[in-house]
Amino acid sequence: MSTLATAATAAEERSGQPLVEVSDLRVRFRGYAGREARALDGVSMSVGSGEIVAVVGESGCGKTTLARSILGLVRPSSGVVRFRGEELSYGARALRRYRREVQLVLQDPTGSLNPRHSVYEAVAEGPRVHRLKDESGRVARALSQAGLRPPERFALRYPHELSGGQRQRVVIAGALALDPRLIIADEPVSSLDASVRGEILSLLLQLRDELGVSLLVVTHDLGLAWNIADRIVVMYLGRVVEQGTTEEVLHRPKHPYTRALLSVVPEIDQREPVVLAGETPDPCRVPAGCRFHPRCPALASGAAAAAGVADDCVGTPLAVLPAAGGHSAACHLHP
Ligand SMILES: Nc1ncnc2c1ncn2[C@@H]1O[C@H](COP(=O)(O)OP(=O)(O)O)[C@@H](O)[C@H]1O
Ligand code: SF4
Ligand SMILES: [Mg+2]
Repeated sequence: MSTLATAATAAEERSGQPLVEVSDLRVRFRGYAGREARALDGVSMSVGSGEIVAVVGESGCGKTTLARSILGLVRPSSGVVRFRGEELSYGARALRRYRREVQLVLQDPTGSLNPRHSVYEAVAEGPRVHRLKDESGRVARALSQAGLRPPERFALRYPHELSGGQRQRVVIAGALALDPRLIIADEPVSSLDASVRGEILSLLLQLRDELGVSLLVVTHDLGLAWNIADRIVVMYLGRVVEQGTTEEVLHRPKHPYTRALLSVVPEIDQREPVVLAGETPDPCRVPAGCRFHPRCPALASGAAAAAGVADDCVGTPLAVLPAAGGHSAACHLHP
């Protein structure tokens, strides 16, 4: 880890304060037929300094909206985002400063690179926008950190001359050129071949180890979370339904939804796959009681009734899980 990064990370760790914390975040969009879509419906979570947190859940559960809210690209209707303990301000100058520290890496490296821009131009864009000194030094360092070595061999190439894995590295170098403290990676490897995935995941791990950068990895793939994350946040229909260390969540899952997700990942769970019944969730129609109840295997099997909580499952809403507090689940079976 570089001396500068070590000092910054150590100071943050000593303060005991998370790098990013969101509290009871709510984001609404106009849905079909004038209905309101509750994309985020009370989300609290945090990312510590030098920590890798994975946000997992099915498509449409609000992962990208959470990532965009943390970046300040979506303004929540209520709740707050704090960075180093300070509430995010949405003024243009404050956001610009903030975006040096929190960088987004997108899921489709082909789509996020301009085919007419050389690798150098792609990576230099951030330092130019932020008018940083020593542009060429920064670009060379970022390319090297992203594993494109020696940097001069890659700087003058164009995206079509690179492999998918190399293009993803260019996108990551573009983020690194600004020395961010947090990188948010939205489905970072979903468009890559299996052989390249492992390579990019080890690069992300290496960046955390060597630069002390924090990572928020958004993915629908629990296997990926298992390979990279220190902590896992499971989302369902705009809420966090379970969170804890990777070990706790994947080896001792509490929430029936987490169990169902896990059951279809053979490298983690050897049990019979659980097929979730019912319609796919719709943020315009969030069920009463526990929002997962129409699809919950524990309710359908009678396990919730045997524990005396079936009425609560269909009628009593669950509180928003706090960002801190270890392994927790929003389920009446696990008070
Ligand atoms: N800009 C938007 N306008 C309207 N609805 C949106 C917008 N962005 C997301 N949504 C809706 O919010 C919900 C959550 O979406 P998203 O955050 O993209 O989920 P995920 O990344 O987990 O697939 C979805 O129902 C989606 O249709
Ligand atoms: S609260 Fe009830 S319906 Fe919801 S996940 Fe727990 S057991 Fe299932
Ligand atoms: Mg998404």
